[in-house]
Amino acid sequence: MKKMKTFRRIGVLSSGGDAPGMNAAIRAVTREALRRGVEVMGIMRGYSGLIQGDLRPFSVRDVSNSLNHGGTMLYSDRCPEFKTEEGMASAIATCEKFLIDGIVAIGGDGTFRGAQDLTHHGIPCIGIPATIDNDITSTEYTIGFDTAMNTTLELVDKLRDTCESHARCNVVEVMGRGAGDIALETAVASGATAVAIPELPFDADAAIQKIRASRALGKRTFIVIVSEGMGSDFAPALAKRIEAETGVETKFARFAHIVRGGIPTLRDRLLATRLGKRAVEELFLGNSNLVVCERSGKIVARDINFALTLDRLYKGKAKPEELALYNEAELAEMNEVGDKKRALFQELYDCVDRICL
Ligand code: ADP
Ligand code: F6P
Repeated sequence: MKKMKTFRRIGVLSSGGDAPGMNAAIRAVTREALRRGVEVMGIMRGYSGLIQGDLRPFSVRDVSNSLNHGGTMLYSDRCPEFKTEEGMASAIATCEKFLIDGIVAIGGDGTFRGAQDLTHHGIPCIGIPATIDNDITSTEYTIGFDTAMNTTLELVDKLRDTCESHARCNVVEVMGRGAGDIALETAVASGATAVAIPELPFDADAAIQKIRASRALGKRTFIVIVSEGMGSDFAPALAKRIEAETGVETKFARFAHIVRGGIPTLRDRLLATRLGKRAVEELFLGNSNLVVCERSGKIVARDINFALTLDRLYKGKAKPEELALYNEAELAEMNEVGDKKRALFQELYDCVDRICL
């Protein structure tokens, strides 16, 4: 039987764009490690705090009253210096100074690349996917995605009220970097007339025709949701075009960071707690360079390289030489996960087309 690894202390950090539910993950990591008799250091401001030695000891009570708050009590940062040799050397020196021999890194794919580098430099790391974008393909849900969608939905519902009063259209741009997940799911759930995401072709003429036809039948309110991955000029230009070509007065709204804050939903708190607990379990089993994921309701752990390659394969960017590192079963798993996500996207897109009339 594999012997459990012993730790002096572990560290926990959050990095990249914050996401509601990160606090619940920090809390779970802290409490699971303390329960196992290992001290926990909260690393402030992601990899910046690791480089600068900005750490705080975390007790059971230090993480109290946190799981119901958005943002991250460890704060977050984008830290380009961490990609340099000097930055990594300082980070390793901090780990030695604070007796940290394992780290749980909460964030997105950039954070996982950093965790992978740290693991290669002798500090075992486990990644927890937390980003509102849901753009980590190896997991079906990332922490923060559900809250961001529910906030988006609440805001779109408010726009619908005023659109209905004034018989207007509102084009709404939502965050997601290159991923259309937030836009697509909220479009279905808010009854949007059309949705534009980078993953699927958008037919502006068809959307305009749909608005014209529905207006002729008496429909007063139109919502069109656009993912930011379409480019920053896309949504405002589409709003102008809809007004010009349908005669329906059309407003534009960009929700931006507003949907990244707020009280995490039950789903995000639950996911964060399960992932946080599992991340520590993996560390103590002596595992590293893993990302913990949710698949079909179960928590599974996958190699970070696997997760990053799967993302690239899903986006059609994987090079043959990186795919050559995987065996048949692993490639089959990657293709299956990608196909499942593509099928879901197509199904939801069809819902907007056929049901959101
Ligand atoms: P996210 O984790 O949400 O994708 P970023 O892409 O901004 O956010 O990454 C967060 C941080 O992770 C970066 O600021 C940097 O410190 C670290 N990071 C990102 N990419 C790499 C990389 N290729 N190598 C090492 N560290 C990285
Ligand atoms: O990755 C999360 C995210 O909110 C994206 O949706 C968005 O493109 C980006 O981060 C915004 O980054 P920043 O907070 O640096 O403006």
